[in-house]
Amino acid sequence: MPIVLEQVSHHYRSGPQTTIALDNINMTIKDGELLALIGHTGSGKSTLAQHLNGLLEPSSGRVLLDGEDINQKGASRRALRFKVGLVFQYPEHQLFEETVYKDIAFGPKNMGLKDEEIDLRVKNAMAQVGLVFDEIQGRSPFELSGGQMRRVALAGVLAMQPRVLVLDEPTAGLDPSARDFLLGDIQRLNRAGTTVVLISHAMDDVARLATRVAVLEKGRLVMEGTPVDIFTQQEKLSSMGLDIPENFKLAAELRKAGLNLDKHYQTQELADALAEAIKGGGGDAA
Ligand SMILES: Nc1ncnc2c1ncn2[C@@H]1O[C@H](COP(=O)(O)OP(=O)(O)OP(=O)(O)O)[C@@H](O)[C@H]1O
Ligand SMILES: [Mg+2]
Repeated sequence: MPIVLEQVSHHYRSGPQTTIALDNINMTIKDGELLALIGHTGSGKSTLAQHLNGLLEPSSGRVLLDGEDINQKGASRRALRFKVGLVFQYPEHQLFEETVYKDIAFGPKNMGLKDEEIDLRVKNAMAQVGLVFDEIQGRSPFELSGGQMRRVALAGVLAMQPRVLVLDEPTAGLDPSARDFLLGDIQRLNRAGTTVVLISHAMDDVARLATRVAVLEKGRLVMEGTPVDIFTQQEKLSSMGLDIPENFKLAAELRKAGLNLDKHYQTQELADALAEAIKGGGGDAA
């Protein structure tokens, strides 16, 4: 069930001023992939994310889900949109119910599901993000840690059982362990079949998790490819104000220093090869 963007442009109008946030985007989000969307601040990532579930409508162009325009008028519009779950930048700002349970149940309730089904989904969604039901369900979402709030917000989207999950900088502001935990959840969901679109400024995470990377610059889609395709183009990325992952930096430096690296090595492989070379180069030839 791919999502297809056909010549999607989006213009924000505020007073006399028009900002072209998306400029003629053509792209396909494939079933089961984990697509990372990267780009400098203001490049249009969040605007694009909000087009994927119809929260924003294109100024021109179309967004198709299963071949159907998600902005069509009529009955199937809501159903189509429920298939794509969007987790906003700083989703905890959207928590509002007095208990965690009610917050996670909000989406499924809105879908018109029966209480038993809602209950099942709340429990499942909490388990999926590692929240212990009995401990957390009755608490106020505002009394939780930042990492827990983030997981409650994610559970609220998962409870709607979307086929595509769009996450806008889900790890921003989390400490390393909360971040790893959340990224682990996301990777598990993807492996279980959920298509994931991940917006991130953390290039190491992108390189590790993404099956494909798309780069936005000033509202245009300028690069698409595997993490290796993308992150070996350091100069091009740097000209857009984008960094590359640490292991790609190290590899680039080693190439500059004259080492012939014929492919991309994962950090561990590179470390092993280097250790071998350094030992072999004869520290203690005596
Ligand atoms: N509600 C709005 N009204 C007017 N202009 C907006 C609005 N939201 C975003 N923009 C503008 O549209 C462009 C794209 O913004 P967007 O938020 O999509 O970027 P982004 O890639 O998500 O950035 P960041 O990495 O900082 O989150 C920017 O120039 C921004 O100033
Ligand atoms: Mg953004």
